[in-house]
Amino acid sequence: MKKVHTEVFAHRGLSSLYPENTMIAFKAAAKLPIDGIELDVQLTKDKIPVIIHDVTLERTTEGKGMVRDHTLDQLMTYSAGAWYSEQFRQERIPTLEEVLIWAKDYTFRLNLELKCPSWERKEMWEAVKHLIDHHGMSDRILISSFDHVLIASIEQEATTVETAVIVVAGLFKPLSYIQSTGTRGFHYFFPMMLDGEIKPLMEAGISVRPYTINDNQMMKQAFQSRVTGIFTDYPHVALQIREEI
Ligand code: G3P
Ligand code: MG
Repeated sequence: MKKVHTEVFAHRGLSSLYPENTMIAFKAAAKLPIDGIELDVQLTKDKIPVIIHDVTLERTTEGKGMVRDHTLDQLMTYSAGAWYSEQFRQERIPTLEEVLIWAKDYTFRLNLELKCPSWERKEMWEAVKHLIDHHGMSDRILISSFDHVLIASIEQEATTVETAVIVVAGLFKPLSYIQSTGTRGFHYFFPMMLDGEIKPLMEAGISVRPYTINDNQMMKQAFQSRVTGIFTDYPHVALQIREEI
């Protein structure tokens, strides 16, 4: 059988061994032969794209309240690693620009998952696009979002940056829905779609990438289905399993 070339994306960096969405988690992922890193992007109060998953600070920092109610300077006063272990206390919430500059030395892709309220879509995309263009990274970036209005509006701009819609539930008539947004990428919650529902999408040229696969058996199943890529907190395990298939 032909070797599997399913991409392995390190979800929030090497987040099973390091605090998610921090430079140390990205640097650890970059030591592996990964195809990409997924990271979550939000805007600060002063409209600077930063890398953090939750809309609130409590779980992964020592701050309190909403990310978007804090300026970058305020956010920089909080550790983004101490919640995970004292040894990572020096980690801060990375800015998107910091990640883009660091990633220039590598060849893997960055999947920027944009998280913003509907009224900030325009500001979010303008800020992110400016950084991507400024650092000449458009061919290394994959933009995704649960906000399909945002993805459709990015596609309408005829940007060269690849995009994907993310879904958390099963979709009825997925192909026509995905195509209606203008994207060619579909990131789905693995347990919610059957192989039989995914196959026609692949045949139609859609890039399909399930998330977040942390179970060895499910990784094997996804590789055998020859999906375009997977997101995992255990990229080191996934790479090994991919080798063995
Ligand atoms: O982009 C795939 C996955 O990261 C979406 O869910 O909540 O982990 O950002 P979440
Ligand atoms: Mg994400």
